[in-house]
Amino acid sequence: MLSTFGLIILFLGAFTETKLSMEQLGEKLFFDPILSRDSTISCASCHKPEFAFADNRPFSKGINGQLGKRNSPSVMNMSARPYFFYDGRAQTLEDQVLHPIQDPVEMGSNLSELYVKLKRHDLYPKAFYALFNDTFQLTQMQIALAAFMRTLETDDTDNDRWLMDESPGLSPLQIEGRNLFFSARAKCSECHFTPDFTDDAFKNIGLYDGKDYRDSGRAKITKNPKDLGLFKTPGLRNVAMTAPYMHDGSIKTLEKVIDYYNDPHKVIPHAINRDTLLSKPLGLTNKEKKSLVAFLHSLTDDQFKKNKN
Ligand code: HEC
Ligand code: HEC
Repeated sequence: MLSTFGLIILFLGAFTETKLSMEQLGEKLFFDPILSRDSTISCASCHKPEFAFADNRPFSKGINGQLGKRNSPSVMNMSARPYFFYDGRAQTLEDQVLHPIQDPVEMGSNLSELYVKLKRHDLYPKAFYALFNDTFQLTQMQIALAAFMRTLETDDTDNDRWLMDESPGLSPLQIEGRNLFFSARAKCSECHFTPDFTDDAFKNIGLYDGKDYRDSGRAKITKNPKDLGLFKTPGLRNVAMTAPYMHDGSIKTLEKVIDYYNDPHKVIPHAINRDTLLSKPLGLTNKEKKSLVAFLHSLTDDQFKKNKN
């Protein structure tokens, strides 16, 4: 028989289930395929938690097995970003979420149909009302999804500990890699600044030649020829978890990323508009290349280390 105390706990349990926090509601939506037209694809189908909310394949599958044209990036450490997508076409996370939901290849939803689906759901209307105290509008869904993504900040890393003089910090090889990363020789920190290792700017590292590499990046939005081949510099936290790399997923490993930077011309000889920082080969030794890769591994948050192997 249930005691009064047991009943109270049950009642509280049922109550707290509908009274989700904004972040919890956003998390539920992020993992819910209801946001796609045929209810098969969720945000997490492409932004997989185990890969730091990125995808481990070059192009993710949207509805009806369709493949996208860009690699799905990590959606962690987004809260300080001034714009979103490789070409910066969204200025806020709240605005950003409507893009994949309506993209015909990704989730293909029509917003008025989605509104009806969410309104008929047995949990969402109550959960939204409890938080907004207002009739349901899709902006509430946008706010909740954005709130969830803003919780995905990571700074439990060997590099962060090393900066605070805490252990375990960096190995000697990682320290060598770190020094090189911030040196005038490798020039990585010219574009990948701390704390999230991005300058939040658009740069061209040479992955556009108009022939084999045809994504013109930022220029698609601005229509300015100066922006041909410019892409938003990605942050590098958890980068060891997010292979393959670059907007097109064309570089499979961190070792190959470093080989690319060492001599971009060798990989893509007719790149258009490549940044002058990358106009000459870096001339890195094998040991130096290894040290850079080792340093990039020190940016992995502890939560992913348990899942390794
Ligand atoms: C079918 C795969 C797919 C689905 C589903 C998807 N995304 Fe994405 N997401 C991508 C790709 C690919 C990009 C990069 C596109 C670009 O830059 O043009 C991206 C970019 C993003 C970005 C920008 C990251 C940055 O660094 O600028 C955020 C944030 C994001 N998605 C969140 C979401 C949310 C929230 C949902 C669910 C409502 C979602 N995504 C659904 C594939 C997907
Ligand atoms: C001129 C600015 C610039 C410099 C210098 C630079 N990067 Fe980048 N980095 C970028 C941009 C922009 C991208 C995204 C390019 C794309 O997707 O087409 C990128 C992508 C990356 C990626 C892939 C990230 C991902 O999630 O796909 C890694 C890793 C990386 N850079 C590491 C480095 C290292 C290490 C160095 C130094 C050897 C370096 N970068 C130098 C601007 C720069």
